[in-house]
Amino acid sequence: MILKSTVALLFLSGTLFLLCGAGRKNSASVKREDFGKADGQNVELYTLTNRNGVEAKITSYGGTVVSLKVPDRNGKLDDVVLGYDTLDGYLKGTSYFGALIGRYGNRIAGGRFKLNGVEYKLATNNGANHLHGGNKGFDKVVWKAKPIETANGAALELRYLSRDGEEGYPGNLSVLVTYTLTDQNELKIDYSATSDKDTVVNLTHHSYFNLAGQGNGNVLKHELTISGDRFTPVDPGLIPVGELRSVKGTPFDFTQPIAIGARIGQSDEQLKIGNGYDHNWVLNGNSGTLRQAAKVFEPTTGRVMEVWTTEPGMQFYTGNFLDGSQIGKGGKPYQFRYGFCLETQHYPDSPNKPDFPTTLLRKSGNYRTTTVYKFSTLR
Ligand code: GLA
Repeated sequence: MILKSTVALLFLSGTLFLLCGAGRKNSASVKREDFGKADGQNVELYTLTNRNGVEAKITSYGGTVVSLKVPDRNGKLDDVVLGYDTLDGYLKGTSYFGALIGRYGNRIAGGRFKLNGVEYKLATNNGANHLHGGNKGFDKVVWKAKPIETANGAALELRYLSRDGEEGYPGNLSVLVTYTLTDQNELKIDYSATSDKDTVVNLTHHSYFNLAGQGNGNVLKHELTISGDRFTPVDPGLIPVGELRSVKGTPFDFTQPIAIGARIGQSDEQLKIGNGYDHNWVLNGNSGTLRQAAKVFEPTTGRVMEVWTTEPGMQFYTGNFLDGSQIGKGGKPYQFRYGFCLETQHYPDSPNKPDFPTTLLRKSGNYRTTTVYKFSTLR
């Protein structure tokens, strides 16, 4: 009797294993298509799919996530990131939809910083300041893409060599970014870089999320939690003033879940400067350790997104520059606050703020960070 049920059990688990194994092989996949040409180079579009049918489309132009389809509480898939239907949109676009950002995500005051006694001058492409790597940041270059299979799921490796002096930065910087779509419905981004000279690096990812589906209204009803007790208040040019200010008693307190729109209209000096949220949070816990930075819940669809990162900070931006002039996927105009960004990063202007965690990458050093966007649902 015992022998019989043991044999039955072994048979059953063997069958399950085979099914899962076969399921995995059949469903976790990467498809490659042409997406056009940029700078005379071919641009590709890769579709990563996991065993749950979750699908991420990523182009080698700017390492951009073009679409991300995740289920709602009834299993219905919808695209939860803003973007364009064609490469042309990205070539002309100025909003950084879904792109990889470098060499330096966010702002550097006056487009200048000093390193080893030398002053480096960068493009001032955001008023008087440098933003997101300059006139032609990593969002506007063609990356070398290679699909790979990992134990965690289908992945895409993206490589880019940023030449010494590019956009004013010192050192030849070799960058490798790997996007992995796991069977746990996570989009995992591993960043690494090395340089042949001391330089500064701060890479991030710039998806605009709308968990109700891209183009389906503004994001003000999304409920957000941020694991950050402090933020970096800014001057009118959105450059941190240097203070790490407590969020307690301010509209910047997201330590408990609250709708993004609940306090966005309050008369608050910092909200006025950003025309909403456009600020860096000082994340709790140890940088270098993968820990939860944020959680977002969209009540009408039940979609939940968690953000996990090894980074010390995160820019929360509520799409305050969107004004309906950009027509996105499926012909949808992207109106004011139709998306939000959670850009994991070092604090803005760190090269000029010796008290902030350093963004210096030494000649012999290794830059390594990881960020995970994890999707699930709640009833
Ligand atoms: C970042 C910045 C914003 C804005 C967007 C792109 O999030 O902090 O001020 O420039 O990028 O439009």
